[in-house]
Amino acid sequence: MAEELGFSKGLAGVVADATSVSQVQGEVGRLIYRGISIEEIAEKSTFEEMTYFLLRGKMPTQPELNKVTAELKEFRALPKTVEAVIDAAPKTAHPMMVLQAAMAALAWDEAPVNLKDVDGNVRNAVRLTAQLGTAVARISRRRRGLAPVEPRTDLSHAENFLYMLDGKVPSKDVARMFDVALMLHMDHDFNASTFSARVIASTEARLTASVSGAVGALSGPLHGGANEKVLEMADKIGAPEKAKDWVANALATKAKVMGFGHRVYRTMDPRAKVLRGMLEQLVAQTGDKSTYETLRIVHDTMIDELGKTSKDYIWPNVDFWSGALYRLMKIETIDFTPIFAVARVVGWSSHIIEMWQDNRIYRPAAKYVGPTEATISPIASRG
Ligand code: CMC
Repeated sequence: MAEELGFSKGLAGVVADATSVSQVQGEVGRLIYRGISIEEIAEKSTFEEMTYFLLRGKMPTQPELNKVTAELKEFRALPKTVEAVIDAAPKTAHPMMVLQAAMAALAWDEAPVNLKDVDGNVRNAVRLTAQLGTAVARISRRRRGLAPVEPRTDLSHAENFLYMLDGKVPSKDVARMFDVALMLHMDHDFNASTFSARVIASTEARLTASVSGAVGALSGPLHGGANEKVLEMADKIGAPEKAKDWVANALATKAKVMGFGHRVYRTMDPRAKVLRGMLEQLVAQTGDKSTYETLRIVHDTMIDELGKTSKDYIWPNVDFWSGALYRLMKIETIDFTPIFAVARVVGWSSHIIEMWQDNRIYRPAAKYVGPTEATISPIASRG
């Protein structure tokens, strides 16, 4: 049966559904959100504007932008129950695991889904976006033994997040770079966590329950967890002059170099280019180039070495440079993947709301490879 239907390991090349939220054009290294290139978005837009755009499918007018901006501020506080869930987690728990639990707890007082209530669902998504940022900051501070910093309503989403993390309002430059980094991570068509969110929401499960599952999917090192692994790799390499040999050894032993490779891109991920540009700006401003230099050599060596092989389609992805940028913003490595979620929650929600307009439960076929005529043998005779 599966043979007749077609089988593709990892669903590679399978068209699972239609979307107008975003498109990865892998051959040419282009990413668009509803038609607009990520480069133009990075240059001209803001997190607030893109939140409206992705959720609603149209660019906001000034009053609409004001409204979504005000809502993102108004909804920042977490319910006490969710604070209690975060505060009950062991400090040794990975922040993505705590975040997933916090999102599950946020679903406790969410009403059952009304698929067609677009206004209600968008409002819910904006609230969730605001609260997810607050949850990530609280989880980070608690792990570092610091009291939570209450959100402020006079700051943008990016500024307020960094303020809640650090207790200090960031410079305009850093806030803008962080804002751009968030926009770059907002959506990426049918990546694993978005697909997970869509699968869960296709059962008409609640938005927040679907997002909680998506956080779990994002946490893995083959997906969002790669940004953390890239910096662990840079730290393990230790110094720029050791990077070339390290890469040669990794390739010789067939180890995966984190931050490289992609199911769809066959060339440079356009987000990696924008992130590198901002990182170089921050390196120049801070004078701290140790991590950057190590990564630069890993990057160049990988491209040189892979370019000589049949794997010349493996290029840097979004996770290669993002961590080095966050490190210069004084963010701890373990918080990088939760920050990915701070942005991607907008994409997850946009996909769910879009899908609910014409919903059908996801239920693929399986290629069954087990026996078809087995029986239960007496326990004493089993080997
Ligand atoms: N370093 C070295 N070799 C690689 C890498 C890499 N980063 N990525 C793929 N390859 C090799 C892989 O070993 C395989 O070789 P072989 O055919 O000899 O077994 C071949 O290239 C095809 O790789 P694949 O794993 O079958 O490709 P995939 O499409 O199933 O997986 C991927 C894509 C992103 C999971 C994979 O490239 C990978 O594990 N990369 C490292 C983790 C990473 O950076 N993830 C972030 C992805 S982008 C952002 C996000 O989604 O969060």
